[in-house]
Amino acid sequence: MTQEPRRLRRITVVAAGTTILGLSALFLSAQSAQSNVDAAVKAAFAKYQNLQEGKNADYIPALAKVDPKLFGIAIVTPDGKVHTAGDVGTEVSIQSISKVFTMARVIQDQGPDSIVKRIGVDATGMRFNSIISVEVAKKELGGAELNPLVNPGAITATSMVQGNNADEIWNKIIGTYSDFAGRRLQVMQDVYKSESDTNQRNQAIGMLMHAYGYIKENPAQATDLYTRQCSVGVNAKDLAMMAATLAFGGRNPVTGKQAISPENVPHVLAVMATAGLYDDSGKWLYFTGLPAKSGVGGGIIAVSPGNFGIAVVSPPLDDAGNSVRAQKAITDINNTLGGNPYISKPRATMTHND
Ligand code: DON
Repeated sequence: MTQEPRRLRRITVVAAGTTILGLSALFLSAQSAQSNVDAAVKAAFAKYQNLQEGKNADYIPALAKVDPKLFGIAIVTPDGKVHTAGDVGTEVSIQSISKVFTMARVIQDQGPDSIVKRIGVDATGMRFNSIISVEVAKKELGGAELNPLVNPGAITATSMVQGNNADEIWNKIIGTYSDFAGRRLQVMQDVYKSESDTNQRNQAIGMLMHAYGYIKENPAQATDLYTRQCSVGVNAKDLAMMAATLAFGGRNPVTGKQAISPENVPHVLAVMATAGLYDDSGKWLYFTGLPAKSGVGGGIIAVSPGNFGIAVVSPPLDDAGNSVRAQKAITDINNTLGGNPYISKPRATMTHND
């Protein structure tokens, strides 16, 4: 073997040393980023642990029985690491957060225009189960002026999922949610029964959407499947992973499963940004910049594209139907981590001759 010239050998050694130094610097900064995330999560948990504002939803009787003290925070970073505080293992029903993932399924299967043409993607500015919003959309605005995150639009989106029978449609829905979460999710039967027994208003909305031509057929089946999808059990970790799958191009950062195509993710996030927290969506976006979605079970998910997916579970809600502690905790953590996608920095000034 020919001997390397001495000078070259020295350069190689120095270069290797530089690489090692560079890597360890990188490693250290990754480590400190991780501990910043941990610190932000722990700080928000400690700050809001004893906050008692808000009240569990009770129009679905099973939700009134959930422990209002339940409080868990989970955030997933690009490496798939899950940072948590509090109770992130107890399941609550996903409720309206499910609407995001049914919408994602329809966009994935039928293209972004399908939702725009049939339902619309505009905020109603009204409550999530408003019937007036349907009347206004149909009679005054010309039809597809709702969105898939309020009940009338969500029941319609569920009716658009294709399959030969209810079981096939359901398997598609629960399969999609499970791909996002990275584990097989299941319906909480007590919640499903409780909501089925008391969802006459949603049944009326389903019928009205059929009468007005948004739902093409079988509105009762669509409302039942919608009720089932709202009763799926999730914990804070599941929800954070679902949010993270949206944050990282539609691919679950742990399982590597592509739940939806990267090009469909911005459409999903856009509707979350405009309508995810119902009549408080504007206020939420104003302070956080994050596409998000709440559910009356007490969960909120939020997405900082490319940075993190976060979820908080805490059942007591404000008047708009959004978890009080979840909104506060996510806002704080997002501020600490600089997750607002609208943040921009001034550029260094340059003369035209530069
Ligand atoms: O249809 C309903 O009323 C419930 N299953 C879901 C509503 C909901 O989560 C609204 N969210 N904030």
